[in-house]
Amino acid sequence: MNALATLLETGVRPNRLPDTAWLEAFLARPDRPGEPILLGLGEVWGRTPAALVDALGAAPDAAHGYQLSMYGLPRLRSVLRGYIRDTHRIGTFEGAFEVAVSWTGTRLAMRDYAELLRDSGYRDRPLAVVAGPSWDYAGVLEPLGFRMAYLDVSRDGRWEPTAASVDAFASGLSESPGLVVLNAQHNPTGRSWSREAVRALVALAAEHRAAILVDDAYYGFDDPGEEPVSSVREILARPDAQDLTWLAVRSLGKQFNCNGWALGALTGPPPLLDTLVNRYRARHSFNTGGVLQDAMARWLEDRPAVEEYLRTERAAYRVRRRTVIDRLAGAGVPSDAVISGPAGPYVLLPVPDAFRSGSRADYLERCAVRAGVLMSDAWPADRPLRPGARGGHHVRMFIGREPATLAEACDRLRSAGLLAGGDSDGRG
Ligand SMILES: Cc1ncc(COP(=O)(O)O)c(C=O)c1O
Repeated sequence: MNALATLLETGVRPNRLPDTAWLEAFLARPDRPGEPILLGLGEVWGRTPAALVDALGAAPDAAHGYQLSMYGLPRLRSVLRGYIRDTHRIGTFEGAFEVAVSWTGTRLAMRDYAELLRDSGYRDRPLAVVAGPSWDYAGVLEPLGFRMAYLDVSRDGRWEPTAASVDAFASGLSESPGLVVLNAQHNPTGRSWSREAVRALVALAAEHRAAILVDDAYYGFDDPGEEPVSSVREILARPDAQDLTWLAVRSLGKQFNCNGWALGALTGPPPLLDTLVNRYRARHSFNTGGVLQDAMARWLEDRPAVEEYLRTERAAYRVRRRTVIDRLAGAGVPSDAVISGPAGPYVLLPVPDAFRSGSRADYLERCAVRAGVLMSDAWPADRPLRPGARGGHHVRMFIGREPATLAEACDRLRSAGLLAGGDSDGRG
């Protein structure tokens, strides 16, 4: 609540998220059941590794000025390259990929890539294939002329693509796609896609000579011991890899709880990456944020500390996820209707039957204003989505909070009669 108080602006409409209006309505209630519980945005506002924060004080003078390289601060680029190489197990493909730092958030890097594609002939093939429900790729791609084609993973109840569902989807396409988006550690389902599904999507791109955008925002949430599927590795392992047009973005903000630093890795074929950073990114940004880049470099150089931090985070997420699943099951929510992990800090909750005739926004508003539990649409977007963007009857709960807080959120929803299959105790 303290973090929140400093983040809420007064005097101007703080943003266009409905959440802020719901939050204010809840806070204005004299009989509210406690503090608001924010499980909408995937944000923690805390738990940044202490060593990472401490490293901010160690920045050399030069870090405060513009930097020279559009690939990022050399010290960070170098350690990040090794980190990407090792965590994606792509050391055998040296020469086929290069890594740059993004200091503008990876969303803007995606936009730059889409612009590069548009200028490289993809204007004539504007269909972008995305597994839905999805993060708001449309918000980046549509303004640049792309049209979205969604492979709806909710339709067969599996909530993740399979090789068969990709093939069936591909055979129903009436035009060749120009772009295929992969998000194998998937927001919002938290599902880790199978190697076969990733291969099928890469093969679809290769068959149509479509470009590939890999979004690895949640790659670090998977346990390396379980060898998470690396879309980058699957691309590089293909015999025709050098003919493929691809870019992988990997936010560092999620795994290290520093979204506000806007740091990430951009990985791609060396010539493409060179054009992207030196032509497209240079159009709108200079190399700034040297202090943040320097701190991130120092942090990543201590690989054992990084691994230990991620091990602890992953273990904590397992407990948080279990807490939510158990609490919902205890409240009578059918367990097969709860979609969860292991890769990613989200759980999808079914909307109760009684609320299915209205919009998901109505249900979310009820949860926020009556129970003080703010969640988000399974398919968040800042404008109405096109037909095809359905995402089933689910909403997304961010689970990056203490287990007791998550349990309280479930209890409050139950009390207010807002859980599918759950009975209200009438206090809501
Ligand atoms: C799936 C996905 N991709 C990309 C991003 C952008 O991450 P960043 O701003 O840290 O680069 C997010 C952030 O919410 C995300 O959830």
